[in-house]
Amino acid sequence: ERTVNIGLMGLGTVGTGVVRLIEGHQEDLVHQTGVRIRIARILVRDPEKPRAIRVSRDLLTTDARDILDDPSIDVVVEVMGHIEPTRQYLLEALRRGKHVVTANKDLMALHGGEILSLAAERGCDVFYEASVAGGIPILRALVEGFSSDRITKLMGIVNGTTNYILTKMTREGADYAEALQEAQKLGYAEADPTSDVDGLDAARKMAILATLGFRTEVQLDEVDVTGIRKVTAEDIAYAKKLGYEIKLLGIAAQEDGLIEVSVEPTLVPQRHPLASVDGVMNAVYVYGEAVGETMFYGPGAGELPTATAVVSDLVTVVKNMKLGVNGRGMVAPYRPKALKTPEQ
Ligand code: NDP
Ligand code: HSE
Repeated sequence: ERTVNIGLMGLGTVGTGVVRLIEGHQEDLVHQTGVRIRIARILVRDPEKPRAIRVSRDLLTTDARDILDDPSIDVVVEVMGHIEPTRQYLLEALRRGKHVVTANKDLMALHGGEILSLAAERGCDVFYEASVAGGIPILRALVEGFSSDRITKLMGIVNGTTNYILTKMTREGADYAEALQEAQKLGYAEADPTSDVDGLDAARKMAILATLGFRTEVQLDEVDVTGIRKVTAEDIAYAKKLGYEIKLLGIAAQEDGLIEVSVEPTLVPQRHPLASVDGVMNAVYVYGEAVGETMFYGPGAGELPTATAVVSDLVTVVKNMKLGVNGRGMVAPYRPKALKTPEQ
């Protein structure tokens, strides 16, 4: 049986889950693909740091060249986050013919076009399912499941950290700062949690969803964003009294050639299914002209749920390698359509 070598960039919350899943589900992965996935190298910042899992010290490196320059590494799995140097690493990986799997919504929302264009040019795969709504395979659903339909609206809860905080404040009367600390401890929050609480993380995800859903290029700076910092315990109590829950909702809609994308704290009627999406759970509604309304629900963050998305992408890359169809992957770079944003 063949072996595919991967270079893992990052061994934090998600990277740990990726190692656990590849090791724990290896036989099942081999059964599906006929290929053994081998983690050849792991890039970290501090190799001496205590880790939640046991990994050989020889696997760890602080030099990305050990992955990028190694011709035996076929796939780079990037779960280290940040824009730079990560963007440079991924572009270099593609230039060297390596396929890429990433969980990095910051990077894909800002530089997805550049990365996907280079991938298409080089015949490489780039998959990024984990970048939106953690364990929910929503990007595949948009690109493959609804390819025959025209999507008119996407709406949902796409940030686990803020939903966790709002749920704790609503159900347990918890303090905002305490709830945020818990979300950080559980590994849900971004390295800089202001991205979560200021709505930026959700905005990045909505830009990706709108790009794939509407098959055009939606820029991050076109998303109207308000976070949850100003939501008080009084707001929540008052909303409750009136029969509402406060949720950080992302909404993307296209109508008559006009696209609007926003993220803001929203009053959701208690009877609405989104009102009962609690804690780290995410939910995305997809409205299609032909299909009508569909809803996707599941864990939006956390070690193993996110790792399922990453490793499933990896399995797709491996299957494509066997079939020799890499670079004709799920997600093409979309050209901007003749669509207008409200500012134009
Ligand atoms: P962590 O902060 O837990 O882990 C980051 C890892 O990357 C660490 O192992 C760190 O090394 C390494 N790293 C960071 N910067 C560098 C660098 N410049 N050079 C070398 N190594 C580096 O992050 P997460 O696992 O939470 O998130 C990773 C990515 O996945 C991010 O893009 C995030 O947005 C995304 N994501 C996260 C989810 C979650 O639930 N946490 C869910 C979905 C997506 P060291 O360990 O030595 O410090
Ligand atoms: N910080 C993100 C969240 C991680 O809380 O949803 C998942 O993308």
